[in-house]
Amino acid sequence: SEGVVPPEMDWSWKGLFGTYDRAQLQRGFQVFKNVCASCHSMRYLAFRNLEGIGFNDDQVKAIAAEYDIEDGPNDDGEMFTRSGKPADHFPSPFPNAKAAAAANGGATPPDLSLMAKARAHGPDYIHALLTGYEEEAPAGVEMAEGKHYNHYFPGHQISMPPPLYGDDVEYTDGTEASIDQEVQDVTAFLNWIAEPELEARKAMGMKVLLFLLVLTAMLYAVKRKIWAKIE
Ligand code: HEM
Repeated sequence: SEGVVPPEMDWSWKGLFGTYDRAQLQRGFQVFKNVCASCHSMRYLAFRNLEGIGFNDDQVKAIAAEYDIEDGPNDDGEMFTRSGKPADHFPSPFPNAKAAAAANGGATPPDLSLMAKARAHGPDYIHALLTGYEEEAPAGVEMAEGKHYNHYFPGHQISMPPPLYGDDVEYTDGTEASIDQEVQDVTAFLNWIAEPELEARKAMGMKVLLFLLVLTAMLYAVKRKIWAKIE
Protein backbone atom coordinates (compact mmCIF):
# COMPACT_ATOMS: atom_id res chain seq x y z
CA SER A 1 0.00 0.00 0.00
CA GLU A 2 1.16 3.57 -0.62
CA GLY A 3 2.35 5.36 2.48
CA VAL A 4 1.71 8.90 3.62
CA VAL A 5 3.53 11.46 1.43
CA PRO A 6 6.59 12.65 3.40
CA PRO A 7 7.49 16.34 3.79
CA GLU A 8 9.91 17.59 1.16
CA MET A 9 13.32 18.37 2.64
CA ASP A 10 15.86 20.91 1.47
CA TRP A 11 18.79 18.52 0.85
CA SER A 12 22.18 20.01 0.00
CA TRP A 13 22.45 17.91 -3.17
CA LYS A 14 19.15 19.08 -4.64
CA GLY A 15 18.94 21.39 -7.63
CA LEU A 16 21.21 22.14 -10.55
CA PHE A 17 24.19 23.15 -8.40
CA GLY A 18 23.53 20.87 -5.43
CA THR A 19 26.47 18.97 -3.92
CA TYR A 20 26.99 16.66 -1.00
CA ASP A 21 28.33 18.10 2.22
CA ARG A 22 31.36 15.91 3.10
CA ALA A 23 31.21 16.75 6.80
CA GLN A 24 27.55 15.73 6.85
CA LEU A 25 28.28 12.46 5.02
CA GLN A 26 31.01 11.63 7.53
CA ARG A 27 28.62 12.30 10.40
CA GLY A 28 26.00 10.16 8.65
CA PHE A 29 28.49 7.33 8.35
CA GLN A 30 29.16 7.64 12.08
CA VAL A 31 25.43 7.20 12.77
CA PHE A 32 25.16 4.30 10.35
CA LYS A 33 28.13 2.44 11.78
CA ASN A 34 27.22 3.04 15.44
CA VAL A 35 23.47 2.52 15.25
CA CYS A 36 22.00 1.14 12.02
CA ALA A 37 24.80 -1.36 11.31
CA SER A 38 23.87 -3.41 14.37
CA CYS A 39 20.84 -4.63 12.38
CA HIS A 40 21.28 -3.55 8.74
CA SER A 41 23.86 -4.67 6.21
CA MET A 42 25.34 -2.35 3.57
CA ARG A 43 26.73 -4.85 1.15
CA TYR A 44 27.75 -2.46 -1.64
CA LEU A 45 29.94 -0.35 0.62
CA ALA A 46 33.63 -1.25 0.49
CA PHE A 47 35.74 0.59 3.04
CA ARG A 48 37.78 2.21 0.27
CA ASN A 49 34.59 3.81 -1.08
CA LEU A 50 34.70 5.99 2.02
CA GLU A 51 37.35 8.07 0.25
CA GLY A 52 34.34 9.42 -1.63
CA ILE A 53 33.12 11.13 1.54
CA GLY A 54 36.49 12.69 2.25
CA PHE A 55 38.41 10.14 4.32
CA ASN A 56 42.07 9.75 3.36
CA ASP A 57 43.99 6.46 2.88
CA ASP A 58 45.09 6.21 6.50
CA GLN A 59 41.63 6.95 7.83
CA VAL A 60 40.12 4.31 5.56
CA LYS A 61 42.71 1.76 6.71
CA ALA A 62 41.98 2.60 10.34
CA ILE A 63 38.20 2.27 9.87
CA ALA A 64 38.58 -1.05 8.04
CA ALA A 65 40.88 -2.37 10.78
CA GLU A 66 38.12 -1.84 13.36
CA TYR A 67 36.28 -4.79 11.83
CA ASP A 68 36.87 -8.51 11.90
CA ILE A 69 36.40 -10.04 8.47
CA GLU A 70 35.60 -13.69 7.88
CA ASP A 71 38.00 -15.04 5.26
CA GLY A 72 39.17 -18.36 3.89
CA PRO A 73 39.39 -21.18 3.26
CA ASN A 74 43.15 -21.13 3.87
CA ASP A 75 45.61 -23.82 2.69
CA ASP A 76 44.26 -26.16 5.35
CA GLY A 77 40.69 -25.60 4.15
CA GLU A 78 39.74 -23.62 7.23
CA MET A 79 37.84 -20.35 7.55
CA PHE A 80 39.54 -17.71 9.64
CA THR A 81 39.05 -14.19 10.91
CA ARG A 82 41.40 -11.31 10.12
CA SER A 83 41.17 -7.58 10.53
CA GLY A 84 39.55 -5.57 7.74
CA LYS A 85 41.34 -4.03 4.75
CA PRO A 86 40.22 -1.16 2.47
CA ALA A 87 39.06 -3.56 -0.27
CA ASP A 88 36.74 -5.45 2.10
CA HIS A 89 33.06 -4.75 2.11
CA PHE A 90 31.27 -3.53 5.19
CA PRO A 91 30.46 -6.68 7.20
CA SER A 92 26.82 -7.68 7.68
CA PRO A 93 25.51 -7.99 11.25
CA PHE A 94 23.90 -11.39 10.60
CA PRO A 95 25.19 -14.41 8.67
CA ASN A 96 21.99 -14.67 6.59
CA ALA A 97 18.43 -13.39 6.19
CA LYS A 98 17.01 -16.13 8.37
CA ALA A 99 19.25 -15.26 11.31
CA ALA A 100 18.47 -11.57 10.74
CA ALA A 101 14.72 -12.23 10.84
CA ALA A 102 15.02 -14.42 13.92
CA ALA A 103 16.77 -11.59 15.76
CA ASN A 104 14.18 -9.02 14.69
CA GLY A 105 10.82 -10.52 15.48
CA GLY A 106 10.46 -12.18 12.08
CA ALA A 107 11.23 -9.14 9.89
CA THR A 108 14.57 -8.97 8.07
CA PRO A 109 16.20 -5.54 8.24
CA PRO A 110 16.74 -4.75 4.55
CA ASP A 111 20.20 -3.96 3.14
CA LEU A 112 20.59 -0.17 3.14
CA SER A 113 22.96 0.21 0.16
CA LEU A 114 20.25 1.23 -2.29
CA MET A 115 17.43 2.09 0.11
CA ALA A 116 17.41 5.78 -0.83
CA LYS A 117 16.53 4.76 -4.38
CA ALA A 118 14.34 1.77 -3.57
CA ARG A 119 11.55 3.68 -1.87
CA ALA A 120 9.23 6.31 -3.34
CA HIS A 121 10.35 9.81 -2.23
CA GLY A 122 13.78 8.35 -1.36
CA PRO A 123 15.57 10.53 1.21
CA ASP A 124 12.40 12.42 2.15
CA TYR A 125 10.79 9.08 3.04
CA ILE A 126 13.76 7.87 5.08
CA HIS A 127 13.90 11.15 6.98
CA ALA A 128 10.15 11.01 7.65
CA LEU A 129 10.28 7.34 8.65
CA LEU A 130 13.05 7.87 11.20
CA THR A 131 11.23 10.79 12.80
CA GLY A 132 7.73 9.38 12.28
CA TYR A 133 7.33 7.12 15.30
CA GLU A 134 4.48 7.69 17.69
CA GLU A 135 4.50 6.33 21.21
CA GLU A 136 0.92 5.24 20.98
CA ALA A 137 -1.13 4.10 18.05
CA PRO A 138 -4.22 6.21 17.35
CA ALA A 139 -7.35 5.11 19.21
CA GLY A 140 -8.94 2.08 17.60
CA VAL A 141 -5.76 0.83 15.91
CA GLU A 142 -4.84 -2.67 17.05
CA MET A 143 -1.06 -3.15 17.08
CA ALA A 144 0.44 -6.53 16.26
CA GLU A 145 2.92 -8.03 18.73
CA GLY A 146 6.38 -6.45 18.50
CA LYS A 147 5.35 -3.74 16.03
CA HIS A 148 5.83 0.00 16.42
CA TYR A 149 3.49 2.67 15.16
CA ASN A 150 5.02 4.82 12.45
CA HIS A 151 3.17 7.58 10.63
CA TYR A 152 5.05 7.10 7.34
CA PHE A 153 5.64 3.35 7.09
CA PRO A 154 3.09 1.85 4.68
CA GLY A 155 0.49 0.18 6.91
CA HIS A 156 1.95 2.06 9.94
CA GLN A 157 3.12 -1.09 11.77
CA ILE A 158 6.87 -1.53 11.54
CA SER A 159 9.15 -4.11 13.13
CA MET A 160 12.04 -1.64 13.48
CA PRO A 161 12.07 -0.03 16.92
CA PRO A 162 12.79 3.72 16.86
CA PRO A 163 16.56 3.66 16.18
CA LEU A 164 17.44 7.25 17.07
CA TYR A 165 16.67 9.37 20.12
CA GLY A 166 19.36 12.08 19.95
CA ASP A 167 22.83 11.78 21.53
CA ASP A 168 23.17 8.29 20.02
CA VAL A 169 26.65 9.20 18.80
CA GLU A 170 29.28 11.70 19.80
CA TYR A 171 30.14 13.48 16.58
CA THR A 172 33.88 13.73 16.02
CA ASP A 173 33.41 17.17 14.43
CA GLY A 174 31.72 18.49 17.55
CA THR A 175 28.27 18.93 15.99
CA GLU A 176 25.46 18.52 18.51
CA ALA A 177 23.82 15.13 17.99
CA SER A 178 20.18 16.14 18.16
CA ILE A 179 17.77 13.58 16.76
CA ASP A 180 16.99 15.72 13.73
CA GLN A 181 20.69 16.30 13.04
CA GLU A 182 21.36 12.55 13.22
CA VAL A 183 18.42 11.72 10.98
CA GLN A 184 19.42 14.26 8.35
CA ASP A 185 23.04 13.13 8.45
CA VAL A 186 22.33 9.41 8.17
CA THR A 187 19.80 10.06 5.41
CA ALA A 188 22.40 12.09 3.50
CA PHE A 189 24.84 9.21 3.88
CA LEU A 190 22.25 6.71 2.63
CA ASN A 191 21.57 8.94 -0.36
CA TRP A 192 25.28 9.18 -1.14
CA ILE A 193 25.83 5.41 -1.06
CA ALA A 194 22.81 4.92 -3.35
CA GLU A 195 23.85 7.75 -5.67
CA PRO A 196 27.59 8.41 -5.35
CA GLU A 197 27.84 9.53 -8.96
CA LEU A 198 25.31 12.35 -8.55
CA GLU A 199 27.86 15.17 -8.47
CA ALA A 200 29.78 13.90 -11.50
CA ARG A 201 26.49 13.62 -13.37
CA LYS A 202 25.52 17.19 -12.52
CA ALA A 203 28.97 18.49 -13.47
CA MET A 204 28.65 16.71 -16.83
CA GLY A 205 25.18 18.21 -17.28
CA MET A 206 26.61 21.70 -16.74
CA LYS A 207 29.37 21.08 -19.28
CA VAL A 208 26.81 19.89 -21.82
CA LEU A 209 24.66 22.98 -21.23
CA LEU A 210 27.67 25.27 -21.53
CA PHE A 211 28.76 23.55 -24.73
CA LEU A 212 25.29 23.91 -26.24
CA LEU A 213 25.21 27.58 -25.28
CA VAL A 214 28.55 28.28 -26.96
CA LEU A 215 27.57 26.21 -30.00
CA THR A 216 24.29 28.12 -30.36
CA ALA A 217 26.06 31.48 -30.14
CA MET A 218 28.59 30.35 -32.72
CA LEU A 219 25.98 29.06 -35.15
CA TYR A 220 24.09 32.31 -34.81
CA ALA A 221 27.21 34.34 -35.58
CA VAL A 222 27.95 32.15 -38.60
CA LYS A 223 24.40 32.46 -39.84
CA ARG A 224 24.57 36.26 -39.63
CA LYS A 225 27.81 36.30 -41.51
CA ILE A 226 26.61 34.02 -44.31
CA TRP A 227 23.38 35.95 -44.82
CA ALA A 228 24.89 39.42 -44.33
CA LYS A 229 25.09 40.30 -48.05
CA ILE A 230 21.64 39.04 -48.93
CA GLU A 231 19.74 41.24 -46.42
C1 HEM B 1 13.62 -1.40 8.13
C2 HEM B 1 16.58 2.43 8.19
C3 HEM B 1 18.33 1.02 12.48
C4 HEM B 1 15.67 -3.03 12.24
C5 HEM B 1 14.26 -0.22 7.79
C6 HEM B 1 13.98 0.56 6.59
C7 HEM B 1 14.81 1.63 6.62
C8 HEM B 1 15.61 1.54 7.82
C9 HEM B 1 14.91 2.77 5.60
C10 HEM B 1 13.01 0.18 5.48
C11 HEM B 1 11.60 0.63 5.76
C12 HEM B 1 10.72 0.24 4.59
O1 HEM B 1 10.64 -0.95 4.27
O2 HEM B 1 10.12 1.13 3.96
C13 HEM B 1 17.31 2.38 9.36
C14 HEM B 1 18.29 3.37 9.76
C15 HEM B 1 18.76 2.99 10.97
C16 HEM B 1 18.10 1.73 11.32
C17 HEM B 1 18.70 4.57 8.91
C18 HEM B 1 19.74 3.69 11.85
C19 HEM B 1 19.58 5.02 12.12
C20 HEM B 1 17.77 -0.21 12.79
C21 HEM B 1 18.06 -0.97 13.97
C22 HEM B 1 17.30 -2.11 13.90
C23 HEM B 1 16.54 -2.06 12.68
C24 HEM B 1 19.08 -0.57 15.05
C25 HEM B 1 17.22 -3.29 14.88
C26 HEM B 1 17.13 -3.08 16.20
C27 HEM B 1 14.88 -2.94 11.11
C28 HEM B 1 13.90 -3.93 10.72
C29 HEM B 1 13.29 -3.46 9.54
C30 HEM B 1 13.93 -2.19 9.23
C31 HEM B 1 13.58 -5.21 11.46
C32 HEM B 1 12.15 -4.13 8.75
C33 HEM B 1 10.87 -3.47 9.22
C34 HEM B 1 9.60 -4.07 8.66
O3 HEM B 1 9.60 -4.50 7.49
O4 HEM B 1 8.59 -4.11 9.41
N1 HEM B 1 15.23 0.40 8.52
N2 HEM B 1 17.23 1.40 10.33
N3 HEM B 1 16.85 -0.89 12.03
N4 HEM B 1 14.87 -1.91 10.20
FE1 HEM B 1 16.03 -0.24 10.29
